[in-house]
Amino acid sequence: MDDFVFRNPTKIIFGKGKEKSVGKEALAYGCRVLLHYGGGSIKKTGLYKTVITSLKEAGIEVTELGGVKPNPRVSLVREAVELCREKRIDLILAVGGGSVIDSAKAISVGVPYEGDVWDFYSGKAAAETALPVAVILTLPAAGSESSDGSVITNEEGMLKRPYGSSLLYPVFSILNPELAFTLPKFQIACGIADMMAHVLERYFTNSKPVGLSDRLLEGTMKNIVDYAQSVLINQEDYNSWAEIMWSGTLAHNNLFGVDRENDWASHDIEHELSGIYDIAHGAGLAVIFPAWMKYNYRQDIDRFAQWAVRVWNVEEDFWSREKTALAGIQKFEDFLRSLGLATTLEGVGIDESRLEEMADKCTNGDTITKGGFVKLNKDDVLNILRLAL
Ligand code: NZQ
Ligand code: ZN
Repeated sequence: MDDFVFRNPTKIIFGKGKEKSVGKEALAYGCRVLLHYGGGSIKKTGLYKTVITSLKEAGIEVTELGGVKPNPRVSLVREAVELCREKRIDLILAVGGGSVIDSAKAISVGVPYEGDVWDFYSGKAAAETALPVAVILTLPAAGSESSDGSVITNEEGMLKRPYGSSLLYPVFSILNPELAFTLPKFQIACGIADMMAHVLERYFTNSKPVGLSDRLLEGTMKNIVDYAQSVLINQEDYNSWAEIMWSGTLAHNNLFGVDRENDWASHDIEHELSGIYDIAHGAGLAVIFPAWMKYNYRQDIDRFAQWAVRVWNVEEDFWSREKTALAGIQKFEDFLRSLGLATTLEGVGIDESRLEEMADKCTNGDTITKGGFVKLNKDDVLNILRLAL
């Protein structure tokens, strides 16, 4: 087990109707709140009205900024930074999925910073202070509700880049599984693929032994698989949504990843897909992760075989660990397809024309490698993309 320091400060408020307490919770951070949201789903579902009522009842002055797009853009973040300064905002309240939360986090570090907020995402600067961010989650997927990360797209060059800092943990996140009842099936499927990916990025590691976190990660994967179909079929099944929503948060709050080296190459490769083609993050991961596995399983066949047996109930082939490992990868791909997701680039409308460009951008012109479990150079990334065609 690797050495670590673990601290996740996000207060989780979980359960039915908990969004009604947002005013009271928010007041602890000040009385001027920026309400940040996406393309309008919260208005259709009635959540917007509930939130405004609760904030107003607490005596909070609300400034609004909607319009966050999936794969959130830096231009809106810049606009919001100005607005927050002008209104002397105390707290940013993100109501939505990962895109809205990530946009709110970018704003939070942008407001006190003198330079351009993109500096954090391009690696030019590290944040020293931030406004607090709070969350009402409407889409279990990205885990941003209790992560220290934010991923933003710069329209100039369609660069999608992550930034991580302990300043980005939300101060509180309200998780009411009922708020997921209105999700389109495609978004549900993408969310499930993303939370599985967050577990897998941690599971495939060279750190050994990591017995407890292996079991926690395996249990999380099994739970996601157990409840995935029920939320797709019966969208108002509270108990199944509760299982999925909590799994999505635990998949990415890093409790199960601190004691080991993580991988994250699949995420970095996927960011090039959604940067250029503006596809949903989970849809991109459903394509990249199986290809990454087929390319890299030889790095540790025993680990892949363990995963196949423990998570996918593959019967162990004692003559061939490789066959066991490959059967697990096949089961994973079948699972993704059972959610209605494509597992090839063609299936998400991407042809071979820009693979080289994506491999180049991902590895910064072949100057850096990606991944902790296996270190991938530009040719490796290109090979994975070709394997995904
Ligand atoms: O914009 P609105 O109208 O709200 O509609 C959204 C959006 O179109 C809709 N939606 C959300 N909740 C809904 C709903 N529709 C009906 N009912 C509801 N309850 O869903 C669409 C997708 O939303 P989005 O926020 O883009 O999805 P998701 O939560 O999957 O977030 C994806 C983003 O998170 C980043 C991804 O890269 C991507 O940009 N990630 C952030 C991470 C982090 N900060 O730690 C880690 C992840 O790996 C991920 O990279
Ligand atoms: Zn992700």
